Amino acid sequence: LNRMEQPPRPTLIDFHGVSMTKYFTDNWDNVQNFKARPDDILIATYPKAGTTWVSYILDLLYFGKTHPELQKSTPLQDRVPFLELCSPLQPSGVDLANKLPTTPRLIKTHLPVQFIPKSFWEQNCRIVYVARNIKDNVVSYYHFGRMNSLQPEPGDWSTFLHDFMEGKMVFGSWYDHVNGWWEKRQTYSKLHYMFFEDMIEDCGREIDRLCSFLGLSPSAEEKEKVTTGSKFDNMKQNKMANYSTVQVMNHKVSPFMRKGKVGDWKNHFTVAQNEKLDEDYKQKMKNATLKFRTEV
Ligand code: A3P
Repeated sequence: LNRMEQPPRPTLIDFHGVSMTKYFTDNWDNVQNFKARPDDILIATYPKAGTTWVSYILDLLYFGKTHPELQKSTPLQDRVPFLELCSPLQPSGVDLANKLPTTPRLIKTHLPVQFIPKSFWEQNCRIVYVARNIKDNVVSYYHFGRMNSLQPEPGDWSTFLHDFMEGKMVFGSWYDHVNGWWEKRQTYSKLHYMFFEDMIEDCGREIDRLCSFLGLSPSAEEKEKVTTGSKFDNMKQNKMANYSTVQVMNHKVSPFMRKGKVGDWKNHFTVAQNEKLDEDYKQKMKNATLKFRTEV
C-alpha cells in the first residue's frame, strides 16, 4: 500500500472465543513466542481506556530525562510498540519491540489476559492495566471506530452500543476483559490495576502510585514535567503523542485526543439505552469487588 491508500476495513472473526480482526491475529505465532525480558513493562488495556495517556506517562518517567530528543523525534506509537498489531502499513509490533533502542521496553497490548504471551509471566514482568467505566469506554470506542480504518465499520451509535454489549468488538467483551485482568491480581502480584477516572480526579496521586509500583523516585521537578506533559491539552498539541502521524486515522472525522473526560456518555446515551446498559451491567458484572465510577 502506498502512503495515500487505506487498508480495507476488516471484519470481525471469532478467534478462540474472542472477537478479533486479522490486523491483530495475523502475526499470532510471533506474538505468542515473543521473548519478554524481566525489565519489560507491559501496558494492558481494553481499547480506549487510557492506553496512550499511561503510555506517555511511563515514557516521560523513564526517558524524559535521559532521552528528551526521542520524545521530540519519534511518535509515541513507535516508542511504545503495540505488541499484536500487524498492519500492512508498518513493521509489526513484535518487530518494533525487538528493535527498541532503549530499556526498559514499554510495550502496549489490548489482549485479554488469557492471550498474553507466556514469557511475560515467566519473566515476572511488571504489568500496568488501565480500566475505564463502561459508558465512557463505549462512547470513546465508537468515535475511534469512525476515525480509524483499521477498525470494522462501527455503524450508527445504537448498533454499536448493541454490538458492544454482546462483546462483538475488537478484543472482545469489555466485561470479560476488565474482569479477567482483575482476577489475575489474585495470583500475579506484579500487576498494577488503575482506573481512568482516578487519573482524571488526581493524576499526580496516580503517578505517585505508579512510581511506587515501578520502584521509581523522580525529583519534584521531574514529576512536575511528567504531570504537565501528560495533561490532555498538552498531549493534544503534541504531534509525537496525538497520533496525528498515523495514516489510518482521520482526525477530521473525530480527533484521537477527543475529549478526555469522565461523563461524556451523558451526551450520547438515550434514557432507554442507559437503562438497558445498566440492566446488562447488573447481570454481567458478577465480581462485586471491581467498582467503576461513571462520574467524578
Ligand atoms: P475520549 O475519546 O473519551 O476523549 P486509548 O489511548 O486507550 O485509545 O484511550 C483514548 C481515550 O483517552 C480518549 O478518550 C482520549 O481523549 C483519552 N485521553 C488520552 N490522553 C488523555 C489525557 N492526557 N487526559 C485525559 N484523557 C486522555
